[in-house]
Amino acid sequence: MLNVVVLVSGGGTNLQAIIDGVEKGTITNTKIAGVISNNKNAYALTRAENHKIPGVCISPKTFASREEFNEKFLETVDGLKPDLIVLAGFLVVIPPAMIEKYRNRIINIHPSLIPSFCGTGYYGLKVHEAALVRGVRVVGATVHFVDEGTDTGPIILQKAVEVEEGDTPEILQRRVMEQAEWKILPEAVDLIANGKVIVEDNRVKIL
Ligand code: GAR
Repeated sequence: MLNVVVLVSGGGTNLQAIIDGVEKGTITNTKIAGVISNNKNAYALTRAENHKIPGVCISPKTFASREEFNEKFLETVDGLKPDLIVLAGFLVVIPPAMIEKYRNRIINIHPSLIPSFCGTGYYGLKVHEAALVRGVRVVGATVHFVDEGTDTGPIILQKAVEVEEGDTPEILQRRVMEQAEWKILPEAVDLIANGKVIVEDNRVKIL
């Protein structure tokens, strides 16, 4: 059974997609051990509570230094004994010690087709604003392993979504979530839970 810890900062629709997948059985061999949020008001914590999943809040703002936060954060994650850590809209930089300890066991959902519209400063609605400004016709989402860079780790799954006439950043964000994120994130968890994802030479092979 894959023990999964989900890290969140906001609404938690991607967390919900994972919870639904586990409950409906489209994600197999998986237990959600806990949800960690850096924001105590994140609706994602309510979603966890609604499904009787332990939820914890730990925020860098309540620590004197980033080092102290990083230490406590790693301790909190370790305490849940994860086999897999899922960043589902988590907006805090992952401490290098956590990346090292959980190499190829942390995945992230990013709302673009990496390597477009990714890296520092590209998160949430900003990604969709940039895509509309550039005028691209196709956008999408990516699930990837987390390494020391920003959105640079091995890519697991991607799904494309069409831009439509009259799209606003909000409309496009919703379509990317519905058509891509809520599908490929649960699918990636299921593949990992069933031993179907391996990393070779920094690239992912799906068995
Ligand atoms: C999602 O669109 C996710 O891809 C994005 O934040 C949103 C969280 O929504 N993540 C990033 O931009 C990471 N760089 P949710 O809280 O409803 O799942």
